[in-house]
Amino acid sequence: MAALDPGIAIGVIGAGTMGAGIAQVAAMAGHPVALYDTREGVADRSIAGIAVSLEKLAARKKIDANQAARAIAALRPAQNLEALADCGLLIEAIVESLDIKARLFSVLENIVSPTCLLATNTSSIPVTAIGAALKHPGRLGGMHFFNPAPRLPLVEIVSGLDTSHDTAQCLFDTAAAWGKSPVLARSTPGFIVNRVARPFYGEGLRLLQEQALDAATLDHVLRACGGFRMGPCELTDLIGQDVNAAVSHSVWTAFYYAPRFEPSQVQQALVDGGRLGRKSGRGFFDYSAGAAVLAPSLAKAQPCPTHITLFGSSPLARALGQRLQAAGVVLQLSAEHSDGRIAQADQAVVYLTDGRSATQRAHDLNEPATVLLDLLLDPDTASCIPLAAGRRCPSAAVSAATGLLQAAGLDVVPIRDVPGMVVMRTVAMLVNEAADTVSQGVCTAADVDRAMCLGVNYPLGPLEWGARIGAATVGMVLTHLQVAYGDRYLPCAALQSSIYSGIPIHVA
Ligand code: NAI
Repeated sequence: MAALDPGIAIGVIGAGTMGAGIAQVAAMAGHPVALYDTREGVADRSIAGIAVSLEKLAARKKIDANQAARAIAALRPAQNLEALADCGLLIEAIVESLDIKARLFSVLENIVSPTCLLATNTSSIPVTAIGAALKHPGRLGGMHFFNPAPRLPLVEIVSGLDTSHDTAQCLFDTAAAWGKSPVLARSTPGFIVNRVARPFYGEGLRLLQEQALDAATLDHVLRACGGFRMGPCELTDLIGQDVNAAVSHSVWTAFYYAPRFEPSQVQQALVDGGRLGRKSGRGFFDYSAGAAVLAPSLAKAQPCPTHITLFGSSPLARALGQRLQAAGVVLQLSAEHSDGRIAQADQAVVYLTDGRSATQRAHDLNEPATVLLDLLLDPDTASCIPLAAGRRCPSAAVSAATGLLQAAGLDVVPIRDVPGMVVMRTVAMLVNEAADTVSQGVCTAADVDRAMCLGVNYPLGPLEWGARIGAATVGMVLTHLQVAYGDRYLPCAALQSSIYSGIPIHVA
């Protein structure tokens, strides 16, 4: 089934944030669009708002002025649901309630023609449940846009148990014809993005709870070392701590309280205190006028160590070598060391984290001067790196490792010695969740990566990232975390299969 012809009218029900955005997208694609809202005057106001923003975009030459004028003329408010009778697709973006959505579709199905498709923009309610009472549930699917709908390209096309293949395909093709990048998903809790993204928030919040680092430093690390557009604290402040906590809670309960989705007490405390983020003026950070912007905590400058040896050809060892040589630092290069060390700098012995704490690794290696480094998305260009030392590590070793990294042009972020550090722990959990999602048939491997890049701006799809790090390393990190904390960090079956077969997760 091909995309709906632009001549076909689209009805959007619920003219709030999402409904208005979706109406704008459909109108810009050339469809006549009717917008309905139960609150009087809301549809008119939304249309006026869309007109203002399209005119502004046209004035700034971001969109074609004629196309904008046509789109504005194509929008009309609907006075009642009967006024949507001539539509070929109805998209619902009303309040997030199963009862209210299911009732709405039961009414609509008696108003529209038998060929009219029905779509819900729900972000958390099973599409199967919304369609269960319909006479023809095959024509209902999810069309999950992201906020702001006119700007964000991703649309998850969600199939419930009864959604017909033709319906899903037509919604997919229509979203693509509207200039979006759709992905197909099975209706399971959180669909793709709201499920796979949970560890990004969850691990950050755990690290705060464990006092590993402060909120500003956490955000800085995930931006500067992990390549994420925003850190979890500023992002949840933007989303709203209450909204983000509600999604986490709903995914956790829907997965029957799986420990990896356990909500955070740190976030609950913010919600309890009304610190909801930007919208309330305060969340992790203070948004009142004149409030200080908190800086990340960085290590003080240390002298460059006298004796430096780099081991092996891992991306981090290679990048450190190049960066140090470019800075004119004298060093020795050595073959891979049997214990996997990356560097020796005076008395410090430096490793990439493998999920064990520095204290445990120092004990296991019988090497008190063990210093651990975190994962970097791109060691060639990163501007900073987290460092952790064990409890018996001599301060001279910490200084030497810090001086080594600073000589390579990296800001050093000393963090408390927690297993898995910050970026490695977060990314390993994202890889695990993406692998689990794909193995359960929610979506394809390519689509999970695409969805996370397009929907939440990840610098790399989690499965591609996992392949870069290597499934064996991701699995080892998680297994060590599991020993430290319990089954929250259990490597999923798909990841284990990748480890034992040597076949990357994203290869079928
Ligand atoms: P909103 O509160 O901005 O707008 C909802 C609108 O629906 C309101 O104007 C309300 O008057 C209207 N409404 C409520 N019940 C109605 C009914 N029975 N018939 C017609 N109109 C009705 O909410 P928002 O944020 O636009 O969310 C709408 C839907 O989109 C929800 O299901 C939400 O989960 C989903 N969603 C929201 C996203 C977001 O970031 N806000 C992102 C993706 C999905």
